[in-house]
Amino acid sequence: MTSVLITNIGELVTNDPVAEDLLGLRTDAALVLDDGVVAWVGSAGDAPAADEVVDAGGRAVLPGFVDSHSHLVFAGDRAEEFRARMAGESYAAGGIRTTVAVTRAASDDELAANVARLVEEMRRQGTTTVEIKSGYGLSVADEERSLRVASGFTDETTFLGAHVVPPEYADDPAGYVDLVTGPMLAAAAPYARWIDAFCETGAFDADQARAVLTAGAAAGLHGRLHANQLGPGPGVALAAELGLTAVDHCTYLTDDDVHALRDSGTVATLLPGVEFSTRQPYPDARRLLDAGVRVALASDCNPGSCYTSSIPLCIALAVREMGMTPAEAVHAATAGGAAALGRADVGLLVPGSRADVVLLEAASHVHLAYRPGVPLIRRVWASGVPPA
Ligand code: NIG
Ligand code: FE
Repeated sequence: MTSVLITNIGELVTNDPVAEDLLGLRTDAALVLDDGVVAWVGSAGDAPAADEVVDAGGRAVLPGFVDSHSHLVFAGDRAEEFRARMAGESYAAGGIRTTVAVTRAASDDELAANVARLVEEMRRQGTTTVEIKSGYGLSVADEERSLRVASGFTDETTFLGAHVVPPEYADDPAGYVDLVTGPMLAAAAPYARWIDAFCETGAFDADQARAVLTAGAAAGLHGRLHANQLGPGPGVALAAELGLTAVDHCTYLTDDDVHALRDSGTVATLLPGVEFSTRQPYPDARRLLDAGVRVALASDCNPGSCYTSSIPLCIALAVREMGMTPAEAVHAATAGGAAALGRADVGLLVPGSRADVVLLEAASHVHLAYRPGVPLIRRVWASGVPPA
């Protein structure tokens, strides 16, 4: 693989944990990518030679975004549901079943093509690591194939059989939990790294979510949870009690929830595209950060509650609506996402980290929030490889 020197970087976001500032910013910097990793970081004037030289022209460079929460394995869309919501309908978990019906009817190739389209869309917007969940199959065969398809695109695959109870189990939710924790988990586990459940009114209660997470852990999967999205509930406390790596949404929190997250170290993953697309109140990132909770930002890209793949949009919303500084939002979408996936090799640019690099069409990371809706991603390298 040819080595690449990116030089004349006006502002380099390293996220180096030993730096004094949150983003580990360097000015007049340079970076060498070699063999898929960052080989060297330093001042532009000291840069070593490389096979290819890219002049950043004083622009900003940052780690590729780490999107720790998405639902890309689905067919069809729910534009009509969105249209009705904008006319006053409210969002409810039951809409998931609409996508389940269409996903079950799709071929493996159709599902894979949809994931490929969305992963590419994400890449163009600076995302170089993405977690992908199942959860629109909800039968043994359809969850297994959803994860098989997802595992063709990422190592960060999540089994979400406990998304909602499918129609054929409407009268027997306990039977469905038995299916999820038994044969469905057995079929899904070879393709999954994580297990997740939607702990919310209209989906699964705390006992059911606990059963799913416990069975997943016994099968070697790491736990994460959807919780406190549509109203207050027990999910965040459960995630903290179980010491899960991350709990996602966190829109409605009590003080006890916030303290529990701080004490457990569980990452609170905030998904502002959801609140944008459902007209619900945004989660209070400021409250979490001030309490010492680790925060990540992710897209939640899915056809129902939030059909955006854009981390730059999430950063802009987090700054405008959730009390985050631009530096906190960029950190949450890079290092925060990495923490939410338990990854030390992505979300930062230091020697040895994966060569996932974004060159902005701007002089500073602040522009990601300052210029919402503008395509500011000039170039992306993923594991050192530029776009085709
Ligand atoms: O994260 N909360 C549950 N699942 C998705 C929504 C899925 C859908 O509406 O299709 C979410 O928002
Ligand atoms: Fe989700």
